Amino acid sequence: MIGPPDDAPVLEVDHLQIDFVTRRGTVHAVRDVSFTIAHGETVGLVGESGSGKSVTAQALLGMIELPGKIVGGDVRWKGESLVHGPGVRRTIERVRGAEIAMVFQDPMTSLDPVFTIGSQIVEVLRRHRRLGRKAAKARAVELLDLVGIANPAARIKQYPFEMSGGMRQRVLIAMALACEPALLVADEPTTALDVTIQAQILELIAELQRELQLAVLLITHDLGVVAGVCDRVAVMYAGKIVEDAPAADLYAEPAHPYTAGLLGSTPRLDIVLDRLVAIEGAPPDLRLPPPGCAYATRCPHAVERCEAEQPSLERFVALPLAGEASEEDAVLAEDELDDPARTGRTVACFRADDLRRQRVSA
Ligand SMILES: Nc1ncnc2c1ncn2[C@@H]1O[C@H](COP(=O)(O)OP(=O)(O)OP(=O)(O)O)[C@@H](O)[C@H]1O
Ligand code: SF4
Ligand SMILES: [Mg+2]
Repeated sequence: MIGPPDDAPVLEVDHLQIDFVTRRGTVHAVRDVSFTIAHGETVGLVGESGSGKSVTAQALLGMIELPGKIVGGDVRWKGESLVHGPGVRRTIERVRGAEIAMVFQDPMTSLDPVFTIGSQIVEVLRRHRRLGRKAAKARAVELLDLVGIANPAARIKQYPFEMSGGMRQRVLIAMALACEPALLVADEPTTALDVTIQAQILELIAELQRELQLAVLLITHDLGVVAGVCDRVAVMYAGKIVEDAPAADLYAEPAHPYTAGLLGSTPRLDIVLDRLVAIEGAPPDLRLPPPGCAYATRCPHAVERCEAEQPSLERFVALPLAGEASEEDAVLAEDELDDPARTGRTVACFRADDLRRQRVSA
């Protein structure tokens, strides 16, 4: 089915591979990662520390620097490669900030301590939007208002150190939005903040997404953070995406054992778990990735095959199983098949179907 143009992905990450060549060996940090983001879609990229989330995000804007190198695959923005081709530097320069904007974890290191926040936003607007000083200042006030900063006309005269962490993150989001990007990449935007402020910043991102029809890539190690904010969640483990699913489906029924493990160790507001269970063990050394499933040493469901072969990311449709569905369920399932948001679920696990059957019969 060909959808309306708005359904076409704006961003395509296509079999991306990134290595870091170090004295202690080559780290295969991103191993064949593919995902897409549609216009106005909010995608969460979730995984433990070191799983390759930030490196993937950096590759979107040509920010991989030696000893890192993109050794395979492609990243395309509206069909144009951001990795290959003679004009790629120019394409990245054009896209960076103006079409894809990034917000990082620590607002203090991303803001210049010696300039007022107003002058930093004005600078971005003058450079990228070619606004005159007066117009840029007026727009800076509007942007601070947009990100929920009270009394913005007075606030623009402040220096970063005069603001709280939450305020500084709002300022960074305002700066990121200054050029009206189509995609906002937010790498752990709330990790440095306390829980209440975290929730406010996430709510702000969700509001802006709706209001401005922004696409968002929200990167976090915490599945709890993306709940309620993201349309879709991609779960990364040891440099690979192991599950990519509509958020509601993923929370209702995690199909990959790692996703289930992450969910079981994530505090949630909507359900009370008996106890949180940390995932035992550690991810593999990415200088020597295992020949089989990278999760095998920690997976409670591993079988012999898992150690020998790599599971590929395959379509997983959580339809009622034959014999157990009522007629009504089956009709619903047929409808769902036409809805890409329902069927766009992929999982890299040999036992995903098997485990699903077990869940159903339990
Ligand atoms: N400059 C570098 N030199 C060598 N290896 C690197 C470098 N940067 C990243 N890596 C490797 O890439 C892997 C993935 O790193 P990345 O920063 O993407 O993880 P992450 O998922 O963002 O983790 P976190 O949640 O801690 O931010 C790391 O485990 C590390 O081995
Ligand atoms: S492929 Fe095997 S080891 Fe990997 S997640 Fe599935 S069951 Fe576990
Ligand atoms: Mg990171």
